[in-house]
Amino acid sequence: MSNDTIAVNVEEVSKVYRLGVKEQSSEHMVQMLWGFVRSPLQNFRKYRALYTFDDIDLDGKEQSDDILWALRDISFKVNKGDVVGIIGGNGAGKSTLLKILSRITPPTRGNVSIHGRVSSLLEVGTGFHPELTGRENVFLNGTILGMRRKEVARKFDEIVAFSDVEKFLDTPVKRYSSGMRVRLAFAVAAHLEPEILIVDEVLAVGDAAFQQKCMNKMQDVGKEGRTVLFVSHNMPAVTSLCDRVVWLDHGRKVAEGPAQEIVGKYLLEGVETTAHRVWKDPSSAPGGEFARLCEVRVVSESGEIVGHCDIQEPIGLQMEYEVLKGGEVMLPHFRLRNDNGVLVFVTLDHDPEWYQRPRPAGRYVSTAWIPGNLLNEGPHFVECNLMTRHPDIPQFHLADVVSFAVTGSMAPGTARGDWPGRLKGIVSPALEWRTEFSEG
Ligand SMILES: Nc1ncnc2c1ncn2[C@@H]1O[C@H](COP(=O)(O)OP(=O)(O)OP(=O)(O)O)[C@@H](O)[C@H]1O
Ligand SMILES: [Mg+2]
Repeated sequence: MSNDTIAVNVEEVSKVYRLGVKEQSSEHMVQMLWGFVRSPLQNFRKYRALYTFDDIDLDGKEQSDDILWALRDISFKVNKGDVVGIIGGNGAGKSTLLKILSRITPPTRGNVSIHGRVSSLLEVGTGFHPELTGRENVFLNGTILGMRRKEVARKFDEIVAFSDVEKFLDTPVKRYSSGMRVRLAFAVAAHLEPEILIVDEVLAVGDAAFQQKCMNKMQDVGKEGRTVLFVSHNMPAVTSLCDRVVWLDHGRKVAEGPAQEIVGKYLLEGVETTAHRVWKDPSSAPGGEFARLCEVRVVSESGEIVGHCDIQEPIGLQMEYEVLKGGEVMLPHFRLRNDNGVLVFVTLDHDPEWYQRPRPAGRYVSTAWIPGNLLNEGPHFVECNLMTRHPDIPQFHLADVVSFAVTGSMAPGTARGDWPGRLKGIVSPALEWRTEFSEG
């Protein structure tokens, strides 16, 4: 990768915070007075202590009570024009990383190099002066970004139209609601032609219509060849907007890669089962007198073993088994549960070739295809079963034997379409809709 293709290079970045320095109580009047005189110096020391760690051996003390590794040895590169998502649970270090990239706080260790003009939307109203009006703040932000007054003036109407706060333009920003502040802040950040746009969780604040507008705007910014770094807990927004994703957990990078793959893994976090189980040793394989299980797999349309699929793609549940004694009618079947343990469906093998027909001994692979646009987003767990018919004798029965995640996307043709919020429900089928209109 040559230097002119890289927009952001994060090299072994760590950030350590010192958790509150204890206040000292003063028991005597004299002590209190003395403390008063001394306090400016003490306060300065306290402040300094929050940001320097000369007194602590950061390498030696893995777990000190009063320090916290908000980020630890994070490295990744972002190419110019890439749209990169940063995901992870609460407290994972996402906002801290964006603050370091926006030069609001320095890393304790490591280096960050940025090639291009950055505009960031970090927290509600960041970058706004509360006493200045909306209009004044727009110009102030432009100046901070290194734009000339004329350039900002040219963009001004677009910013105002996007933010929808026209009526309040001459009101000090401190009187704005948090939603209004975010609208204006996002409009400013996205319209002042940054080369690198950094956005933290903007979708959490606005209403659905505004969220949609922000998504579209970020998509446009990405298409214009600008670089976008986007933090969100909204996974469909991440998968539809981002090419790549960096996943953080407790300050460490867990994984980095194609958006869908990483989001799929993230959704399955803490799940011990995988998309593939094999029983190599027949003596320990699940089974009965008539049949024995060999493998269970979750497969894509092309037959690859996959731990995730896009909500629009079909996915196959596959079992491979041996019929040990021929002559019985067999009924392979799957049950599928979601992450709340709710049964989504039961499916029985109705392949016309074998339905109600006795099977000869041998090896079989049975696949149940789940169509795209049926399951809802999130983790799914597969129960794999087989029994003989007449009489019904279970041969194997394994709950939660394999798992996979369905990742959503804000795309036409899905149940959600461009709706950014969560769609509840056990399934999320893209139904055909018709609306008839008659006048009056
Ligand atoms: N100024 C600070 N002083 C001390 N600790 C801090 C400070 N800022 C952040 N932290 C801590 O650093 C860790 C990472 O916080 P950060 O805000 O980066 O998480 P996040 O991934 O953005 O979480 P969320 O999804 O909740 O927004 C947390 O444990 C947090 O408490
Ligand atoms: Mg955050």
